[in-house]
Amino acid sequence: MTKKNQDLKILGIETSCDETAVAIVNIKENYKGKILSNKIFSQNKEHSPYGGVVPEIASRSHVEHLDDLIDQALKDSELSFDNFDGIAVTSGPGLIGGLIVGMATAKGLSLATNVPLIGVNHLEGHALTPLLTNDTSFPYILLLVSGGHCQLIIVEALGKYSKIGTTLDDAVGEAFDKAAKFMGLGYPGGPELEKLALRGNPYAFDLPRPLVGQDNCDFSFSGLKTAFIRLVRSIEPVDEKTSADLAASYQQAIIDCLINRLSKSIKIVKELRPDLKIKNLVASGGVAANKRLVEQMQEFSKEKNMEFISPPIEFCTDNAAMIAWAGGLRLSAGMRDPLGINAKARWPLEEVNIN
Ligand code: KG4
Ligand code: ZN
Repeated sequence: MTKKNQDLKILGIETSCDETAVAIVNIKENYKGKILSNKIFSQNKEHSPYGGVVPEIASRSHVEHLDDLIDQALKDSELSFDNFDGIAVTSGPGLIGGLIVGMATAKGLSLATNVPLIGVNHLEGHALTPLLTNDTSFPYILLLVSGGHCQLIIVEALGKYSKIGTTLDDAVGEAFDKAAKFMGLGYPGGPELEKLALRGNPYAFDLPRPLVGQDNCDFSFSGLKTAFIRLVRSIEPVDEKTSADLAASYQQAIIDCLINRLSKSIKIVKELRPDLKIKNLVASGGVAANKRLVEQMQEFSKEKNMEFISPPIEFCTDNAAMIAWAGGLRLSAGMRDPLGINAKARWPLEEVNIN
């Protein structure tokens, strides 16, 4: 889809949740990309006292940090606006206040410099990341696991996405965060719970594996979370060893659910789309930073004779390189957006399919 001899420089802006991020990516033909700058300001400290993202604090923090990060990225890459071919900005899904901060900045820059604007779906950014960071190619099955999402998607080509499974209630990152909050661990809870689980026995406690064995690729975590909270309450006060066992058992229950659903998705994709002959499995989104999940997915992929790919941690969690990359690929396929585009709090990935 990308043109020959192309050499695009794209500025990317990401403000959909609690990371303010700016990146510059150089895109050459045949899906070759190079990250020239990747700047990120994590607001974890600001949200930590509340045990979750506070939208108003997030928007204010984006306002305070975005301009400075853009300056830093320009300095880093030794580029100026004359050098850019596109300005890509996350337009959704996400927290509306944060999205508006990023989009207003991107629109202002585009208007002032005449550089085309491309509104990017955040999920498409996660979906296309492995093409930028790992030597992989279409098609693949993507397990998108983040604080806001838990989905299984067939990624066939740019703008060709089919969701085959989704969560019926909580996102998987949310399941980590809520359990961690209940245990009094820090925020974000996923990495804290993982740290504690390292010292525990993953099979010490018997927790449910919702939907495991069912003939679909959906997920459900709210029953598991409730069972976990009941379990903790039933054994309080919890000593240190028990606390590690609880964290490890909870994490293992989540991983078992994810891998069972992934396994089902391979079967379903083979039935639905035998023509695709998918050989690659990709995990992306913040929860894909979980080492035990990655190890167990690696083992699982080996058993299935498939290749497992997971972007480096800093590109699994929210970043702007993925936004610049997805926007640049769209630009090279002839797409751009008018300055009138709006931020979308909800924006299913399949709505950006190219027919
Ligand atoms: O993709 P991301 O940075 O932001 C969203 O778009 O949501 O994902 C953040 C989520 C949080 O829920 C965080 O607790 C979780 O990813 N997370 C982890 C780990 N690192 C981040 N969950 C489990 N284990 C980890 N190591
Ligand atoms: Zn994300």
